[in-house]
Amino acid sequence: MKDILERLEERRAQARLGGGEKRIEAQHARGKLTARERIELLMDKGSFEEFDMFVEHRSNDFGMEKVKIPGDGVVTGWGTVNGRTVFVFAKDFTVFGGSLSEAHAQKITKIQDMALKMRAPIVGLFDAGGARIQEGVAALGGYGEVFKRNVIASGVIPQISVIMGPCAGGDVYSPAMTDFIFMVRDRSYMFVTGPDVVKTVTNETVTSEELGGAKVHTAKSSVADGAYDNDVEALLQVRRLIDFLPANNMDGVPEIPSFDDPNRTDESLDTLIPDNPNKPYDMKELIQKVVDEGDFFEIQESYAKNIITGFARIEGRTVGFVANQPMVLAGVLDSDASRKAARFVRFCDAFNIPIVTFEDVPGFLPGTAQEYGGLIKHGAKLLFAYSEATVPLVTVITRKAFGGAYDVMASKHIGGDINYAWPTAQIAVMGAKGAVEIIFRQDIGDADKIAARTKEYEDRFMSPFVAAERGYIDEVIMPHSTRRRIARALAMLRHKETERPWKKHDNIPL
Ligand code: HXC
Repeated sequence: MKDILERLEERRAQARLGGGEKRIEAQHARGKLTARERIELLMDKGSFEEFDMFVEHRSNDFGMEKVKIPGDGVVTGWGTVNGRTVFVFAKDFTVFGGSLSEAHAQKITKIQDMALKMRAPIVGLFDAGGARIQEGVAALGGYGEVFKRNVIASGVIPQISVIMGPCAGGDVYSPAMTDFIFMVRDRSYMFVTGPDVVKTVTNETVTSEELGGAKVHTAKSSVADGAYDNDVEALLQVRRLIDFLPANNMDGVPEIPSFDDPNRTDESLDTLIPDNPNKPYDMKELIQKVVDEGDFFEIQESYAKNIITGFARIEGRTVGFVANQPMVLAGVLDSDASRKAARFVRFCDAFNIPIVTFEDVPGFLPGTAQEYGGLIKHGAKLLFAYSEATVPLVTVITRKAFGGAYDVMASKHIGGDINYAWPTAQIAVMGAKGAVEIIFRQDIGDADKIAARTKEYEDRFMSPFVAAERGYIDEVIMPHSTRRRIARALAMLRHKETERPWKKHDNIPL
C-alpha cells in the first residue's frame, strides 16, 4: 500500500514539473510565472483542486509518441476567489509551448462545461503557441469545441482571459469571445498571424510587441480591456474584478459590507463644474467621490478616453458606471467611444448590473473620418445597447447634453428609470453659438443682435429646466447630494421588472 501511495506522489510530482526544471527556469528568466504558480496567486490559498493532471496527448505523428508529458500543456481545475467558486485553465508554456492538442482541448472543454453547469465564472490564463502543429486538424477541431462553448456560456457566466505570454493563432479567438481580456506589459502579445507571416504577406517589418503587445491592444485595437506590469499585479487585479462580478446571469450582483455612508454628501462637488462651459473638469473625480470608498475598477482605461467605463459599488452592491470625460475631446461621442461603452452596457445588462450614467457630452463627433468609419452604425450600437437594457438605469446630467447624444446617454426616452440633472446642466439640440448662427442667420454681421439672440437662447435652453418642465428630468439635484440620490434611486429600483416581446435575439448593428 505504501508503495502505491508513494508512486502516486511521484507521478504527481512529475506532473507538477510540467516541461521540467530547465524550462521552468527559462520561464522565470523571462519574468513569467509557471501555470501552477499563476493559479496559486489567482485562487484563495490552498483552494485549488486540479483535474486531469495525468492526461497525455494521443498523437503518433512526427515522433510525438516518444514525448508525452503529463498534463499536456494546460493546468485545469477550480478553486475560490474570496470564497466564491471560480473555474480556471492555465496554459503551461513549458510543455510543447502550451500548444493545443486534442487532449489539451478536452481538458479545457471539461472545465468550460463544469463552469457552465455550476454557473460559476471561468478564467483562462494564456501563454501559448496556438494549435499543436504536429496534430493538424485534431487541434483545429479542439479549438472549435472551445470556441463553441465560449459562445454558449456568453451572457450566462463571466468569462475572463489573461494573456501572460505569447498568444497566437487559435489561442486568440477564444479570449476574443470572452467578456474581458487583460494583458501583461512587455511579456505578452496577441495576434492571428505573427511577424514572419506578416512580412511574407504584406512585406511589413514589425516586432511582436509592435504587432500585438499590450500597448497596441489596450490603446489602439481595443482588443484588451487592461494591462498590468507583471503576472502578480495582473492576477491580483483579476481577483479584484471577480469580486465585482455576479457568478452568473441569475444570481444578481454580489453584496459586500460597505463602511461608506450612502448619505455621505460631498460639498466639493458643488464647485466641480467650472464657470466657463468650455473648460474641462475630471469626470473621474465625480465617480470616485460618489462610489463606496472611492473604489473604481476601470475597463478599457487607455482606449477612447473620452468615455469612462468601469465597476464600483454603492451600498456594497456592484454598479456599472458609464461617463463622458470632458478632459478628452470635450467628452464627445465618436465611433470608438460608442463601441466601448456599448459593449460595457451590454455586459452589465446581461449580468443584471445596474448602470449609472454621468453625462456631459457636446454631441457626436463631426467629420469625414468619423462618417467614413461608420459613426452611424457605431453610435447606434450605444443607442441600441442602452435601449435594450432592462437593468436599472440612473442618469445624472452634469453639464452638456446636446443633440442625439442626449437621447443616447440613457435618456428617459430610451429607458432611463431615474434621470437627474445638476443645476449646471444644459440640455439642448446644440450649443448657443451654433444654434444662433442657424436660426438667426439673417442677423449674422450684426454683433449686437447676435449677442442678444445668443443670450436669449442661453437663458431659455442652457439649463435643465426646459427638460424638467416636460418631466424628461425627474429632478434637478444638488451636486453635493449625488451619492445619496443615486443610492436612493438604486435601492428603489432593486426589483425592477421589464416585459419585452419574445424574440430569438436582437440584431444589434454590428
Ligand atoms: C507545437 C510548439 C508550438 C506549436 C511552440 N511549440 N509552438 N509545438 N505546436 N504551435 C514548441 C516549440 O517547438 C518549442 O519546443 C517550445 O514549444 C517553445 O517554443 P519556442 O519557439 O522555443 O519559444 P519562443 O521562442 O518563446 O517562441 C514562442 C512562439 C513560437 C512565438 C509561440 O513557438 C511560435 O511561433 N510557435 C508557433 C506559433 C504558430 O504558428 N502556431 C500555430 C498557429 S495556427 P522545443 O521542444 O523546441 O523547446 C493556429 C490555427 C488555429 O493556431 C486556428 C483556429 C481559428
